[in-house]
Amino acid sequence: METISLQSPYDMHLHLRDTPLLESVAKYTAQYFSGALVMPNLNPPIDSVELALSYKDRIQNACGDYNFMPLMSLYLTEGLDRSVLQRAKEVGIRFVKLYPKGATTGSQSGVSEVLDNKILQILEYIQELGLILSIHGESNGFSLEREAEFHSVFTELAESFPRLKIIFEHLSDHRSIALVEKYSNLFATLTLHHITLSLDDVIGGGLNPHCFCKPILKTPKDRDALLQVALSAHSKFSFGSDSAPHLKENKENGKGAAGIFSAPLVLLGLAELFEKHKRLENLQSFISDNAQHIYSLPKSAKVINLEKKPTQIPREFDGIVPLFSGRELSWSYT
Ligand code: DOR
Ligand code: ZN
Repeated sequence: METISLQSPYDMHLHLRDTPLLESVAKYTAQYFSGALVMPNLNPPIDSVELALSYKDRIQNACGDYNFMPLMSLYLTEGLDRSVLQRAKEVGIRFVKLYPKGATTGSQSGVSEVLDNKILQILEYIQELGLILSIHGESNGFSLEREAEFHSVFTELAESFPRLKIIFEHLSDHRSIALVEKYSNLFATLTLHHITLSLDDVIGGGLNPHCFCKPILKTPKDRDALLQVALSAHSKFSFGSDSAPHLKENKENGKGAAGIFSAPLVLLGLAELFEKHKRLENLQSFISDNAQHIYSLPKSAKVINLEKKPTQIPREFDGIVPLFSGRELSWSYT
């Protein structure tokens, strides 16, 4: 039987939530990945070193015996000061996440005006300390144009902070690819859903809230361009699932929470996709090597073996409807 081995997979964009949902979802990533960059958009947000360290403890407890490294991030609020960033660095927190206020789930405490002097001062400190800035790059304009409208902010930041490593999270628009290529200090993550689905999966038939996420899925042209970037293992792009679990009841009945839960199956979905496009040999770079280079991460001893044998994706995991719910994927974990 055909098998592949993935060494030291990293998920560079992950939502683990908090107790009790944390206990349901953490094990999937902990089992299949060496490490993951954990998003801080809890309520209240993880905006202090103390909150980040206690959250890390809860994550590690939820991960049990799996050898897994949660990479913690701090939520960039307007009140973040240099001493907090300095202490973060001292305790090994290397990431700061910027949410424009109101852009997505848990962004109420985000930044109203990214190019405001107060925020630029914070970014100066982040650059000085050598921390990595991860950005949800969307304006508050028309939903299909939000990412492109945010390009001017990335341009300004990339030019003003040449020594700051900036990550353009979850690319969804084909126009963003050239921007990432243009600046040597700009990198990006790609999700499985943005390279496999389009807006028609949300609204093309009956309304499907389980494929609703931010940034919204876009056109087939966007999807295909992003897919080509992933398949080619472009060295500025790494995998970040943006697995974002919400209970079914909060997705349905008009509640419409944004987020797609993919953690249990992302490696299977990626294997199927890369095989279909005859690029399986590039999956290792996309799932790990690129991230190791971009974020200076260690190669761990973890190896995940997959075999070419069908897996039936459950309709739900503990009340959460996953990506590819009820579908059969062509690869299995061994
Ligand atoms: O769809 C999304 N869900 N996009 C985000 O940026 C946040 C995430 C969440 O936390 O649910
Ligand atoms: Zn996210």
